[in-house]
Amino acid sequence: MRYKYFICFIILFIFSACSQTTSQADPTGEEIYLARCAACHGDKLEGKVGPKIGKDSSAWDMPNSYWIQTITMGKGSMPGQTLTDEEVYLIMEYIREGEK
Ligand code: HEC
Repeated sequence: MRYKYFICFIILFIFSACSQTTSQADPTGEEIYLARCAACHGDKLEGKVGPKIGKDSSAWDMPNSYWIQTITMGKGSMPGQTLTDEEVYLIMEYIREGEK
């Protein structure tokens, strides 16, 4: 009888260990920004090839819909970025939190 409980415990343990590894592997908004946007908009949102997009920029006051459209569809010489909704959301959260 005890043996059965032990097996159950091991299985639960393996499941919880697995789900933890997956969530740790998910990139943060900062990581996605640095990988996908920083080359053109700068590590600190200060702008490079692309305009600055931090707190003191005109883009800052634009609604989320403008950001989502610009990021996913592109704008002018900015190419649209292939990102999931989740990634776009994480990037916007990172940009808005970092500069407040
Ligand atoms: C290849 C370079 C490049 C990359 C990569 C890039 N951008 Fe841009 N981005 C630009 C350029 C150039 C513009 C200006 C487009 C225009 O108005 O003609 C721009 C414009 C924008 C704007 C609008 C700024 C404004 O003043 O209205 C936002 C917001 C923006 N980018 C966010 C992002 C985000 C977030 C990422 C990463 C997912 C990203 N960009 C990736 C080059 C880039």
